[in-house]
Amino acid sequence: MKVLSVASECVPLIKTGGLADVVGALPAALAPQGVEMRVLLPGYPAVMKATQAEVDVLSDDDLFGGPARVLSVRAPHEQVYVLEAPHLYDRPGSIYLGPDGRDWPDNPQRFAALCWTAARIAAEGVGEWRPDVLHLHDWQAGLVPEYLRDRHLATPTVLTIHNMAFHGSADPALIPDLRLDPGRFHPDGYEAWGRVSALKAGLIGATRLTTVSPTYAYELTTPEFGMGFDGLMRTRRGALSGILNGIDETAWNPADDPAIHAYADPRGKTRNRDALREELGLPPSDGPLCVVVSRLSEQKGLDLLLQALPTLLACGGQLALLGSGDRGLESAFLNAARDPNVAVRIGYDEALSHRMIAGGDAILVPSRFEPCGLTQLYGLRYGTVPVVALTGGLADTVINASPAALAAGCATGLQFHPVTVDALRNALSRLCELFADARAFTRMQKNAMKSPVGWDGSAAAYAALYRDLLHRG
Ligand code: ADP
Ligand code: GLC
Repeated sequence: MKVLSVASECVPLIKTGGLADVVGALPAALAPQGVEMRVLLPGYPAVMKATQAEVDVLSDDDLFGGPARVLSVRAPHEQVYVLEAPHLYDRPGSIYLGPDGRDWPDNPQRFAALCWTAARIAAEGVGEWRPDVLHLHDWQAGLVPEYLRDRHLATPTVLTIHNMAFHGSADPALIPDLRLDPGRFHPDGYEAWGRVSALKAGLIGATRLTTVSPTYAYELTTPEFGMGFDGLMRTRRGALSGILNGIDETAWNPADDPAIHAYADPRGKTRNRDALREELGLPPSDGPLCVVVSRLSEQKGLDLLLQALPTLLACGGQLALLGSGDRGLESAFLNAARDPNVAVRIGYDEALSHRMIAGGDAILVPSRFEPCGLTQLYGLRYGTVPVVALTGGLADTVINASPAALAAGCATGLQFHPVTVDALRNALSRLCELFADARAFTRMQKNAMKSPVGWDGSAAAYAALYRDLLHRG
């Protein structure tokens, strides 16, 4: 079975968040299931630089304002199709934002071009290779069902919602430029709040919808989390399922991780914790060293952590944060780092993220919403106890240290609810108490390290979904 995965990011070529990890992991995870997955990706400078052996497989004289071609490249782990369209993608800086920190003004065309090309590949194939199913990721791939429809193509599609907060909206004046059927700009079509919505086009048009955890699948049908599309999600409930993300268990393996002092038992964390304290200039302490590795955005609830920080510090805890994003949060954390027990590194640093997760006693993820979340999974694998908000994938992957779970010996972390400063303060106090009970804490770490965080189960679930689509014809 051949599946074309259509996305705006994919490790190791280009990444801004967990989407890239997931898109990059799926082809290898699905291969043992008999699924041959290839990825279609925009040709940003980083992608063009990282991929060399190129074969020109499709070309287009005018793809939304300029010439384009599709290159078939052998990326480090898999076969990738790169859409080279310099007028759309050959520019420095962020792949989504211009130098002013706002979306590139032509983002609608940039990602419509990706969708248009995916539909063309579905129609014509590339060489002998023609996908049986298209797997679309987020709004950037949302227009594919519209273009398939215009071509009268019935290729089944799966849209995975990694984040419902981004709608991919555009001015309706762009409808002709985007080559969309103007007759479908209405509430049952791709219109939402008077705008073109690439996400909505995918939500109404994809044969199946998935999201990255069972709890987020349910949450999307509620006004609190549906971001305006909860009604639509309720009507499409029958087509929607939640399939948990996994992590790359080779890259994230504490027993064989070149970035750290490798360990297979929680006791092995001590060396990593000492090294991390030294690297970050944190003093020795009897309290838990808490780490955060995150985008700094409203979603991640880190403003709550700033407010709850005194509680952690008062019980002897420490905080080490690695992240970047919102300028206000960056400077607020840098300000908090004036306390000797707080260390903050602004930026993106893969190797440091490994050292932090290996060296921390606990990893904090106080998100307001979290479709899945990957860092709590890294935390589990490294025996770094996750302290998480009870939402989305955080609810599905951590077993809360309730009195009953502690008595039964199955807890793997701490969850708090509602997502408020008070509840977070309470969770941090509980963490300090548990940390003081070395036996109970080690037990939790051991449980955490045994939690299943790989792709096996979820890869089988995706493969079953594709097969189901094909058998239904
Ligand atoms: P999201 O996709 O919403 O940002 P996820 O938890 O799914 O959240 O994925 C985030 C990914 O990005 C993880 O692999 C995480 O380790 C990585 N990451 C986030 N911020 C940084 C950073 N500053 N340095 C290194 N890695 C980071
Ligand atoms: C999004 C979500 C995150 C999820 C990731 C990969 O960025 O915010 O929760 O883990 O996509 O699916």
